[in-house]
Amino acid sequence: MLHSRQKIQALKSEYQQSLVNQLVTAVLILDKNLNICYLNPAAEALLIKSMHKLYGSSFNLIFSNTSINEARLQQLLSTEQEFTDSDIVIEFGKNHRFTAEVTASAVEFKHIPHLLLEFKQIDQQKQISLEVFQQQQWIAARDLIKGLAHEIKNPLGGLRGAAQLLSKELNQEQQEYTTMIIEQADRLTNLVDRLLGPNQLPEIKKHNIHSVLEKVNQVISYSNNQRIELLRDYDPSIPNIECDQEKIQQAVLNIVNNAIQAIDQNNTITLKTRIASNKTINGQKVKLAAQISIVDNGPGIPDKIQDTLFYPMVSGRTDGTGLGLSIAQTLIKQHHGKLSCISRTGHTEFIILLPLTQNVSLLKENN
Ligand SMILES: Nc1ncnc2c1ncn2[C@@H]1O[C@H](COP(=O)(O)OP(=O)(O)OP(=O)(O)O)[C@@H](O)[C@H]1O
Ligand SMILES: [Mg+2]
Repeated sequence: MLHSRQKIQALKSEYQQSLVNQLVTAVLILDKNLNICYLNPAAEALLIKSMHKLYGSSFNLIFSNTSINEARLQQLLSTEQEFTDSDIVIEFGKNHRFTAEVTASAVEFKHIPHLLLEFKQIDQQKQISLEVFQQQQWIAARDLIKGLAHEIKNPLGGLRGAAQLLSKELNQEQQEYTTMIIEQADRLTNLVDRLLGPNQLPEIKKHNIHSVLEKVNQVISYSNNQRIELLRDYDPSIPNIECDQEKIQQAVLNIVNNAIQAIDQNNTITLKTRIASNKTINGQKVKLAAQISIVDNGPGIPDKIQDTLFYPMVSGRTDGTGLGLSIAQTLIKQHHGKLSCISRTGHTEFIILLPLTQNVSLLKENN
């Protein structure tokens, strides 16, 4: 069926006008002086500013310090060659920062050249793919180290046994040598056991998460020479959760110990609990979870280990073995939970998410 060209044209512009307001993609239009002349509602939501506030402002208000600059936009106006830049970090207003992919193209509006900028926010996508990648790397590194540790452990036992037998044949002066072998073998066995990580199934019972944290507090109060006190910010409404209290204690203790090693007396460490709803844990939607945050205001995680923080044998300390966080990660995973970290100077936060209940048959399968 044929329709008149005019009718199609009218329909087209009608659809275009009303649909642009309902697009999920954020759209920004600049006039030929590169000033903002239109934002669709998705762009208003992304920038948290209304068109009323932004109309007439220069594009630079949004794109300063990015690869989208005046020279490129002028070139686009003259050549009409569209371009797409990914990973543009937009810092707009106080504390509002996001990463976007921006496509810029030349358009005509009322016969006057304009520029159309389409934004796609990619922070969430980036975060998810980074998490998946790090997860795979963590499993690969852990399995490799576990395999190696296992191989070292057996001959080490033999070595120690032989030294013990030999020492019976030797005089006291010569026994010094076998004692040294035995001591060093014990030190290595200790390390190898930590490399192998927790190997027992968790003993799941219902526990009050705050009693578990108070135990950590007690241990810390005896063991730290700097007399750092833990501040507490608890949500008393969290119901009892199904967990192995010793394992959760160990995980939190490893994290708190790191914070103590990183900060000085002017800094603080806070244990914070909250109920978290609708979280994704290991790809599964969890309606309700207990969230334990360990927050310090120290120097932050060194940049060079931020991406591999949870891998075994990654340490920022000269005397660290780099196993504390990897072990904490294993313990939290045994509970089908999630351990993550956000860190910048003055604010480091380790976040443990634990489902309120555990599926016992799943525990056996996964551990
Ligand atoms: N709260 C924190 N502030 C600053 N850096 C931290 C913090 N927590 C961890 N780190 C850094 O992360 C590194 C890895 O920690 P992890 O507990 O895995 O190993 P480690 O403490 O070096 O050794 P281990 O725990 O086996 O004795 C630490 O060496 C430290 O550089
Ligand atoms: Mg540690």
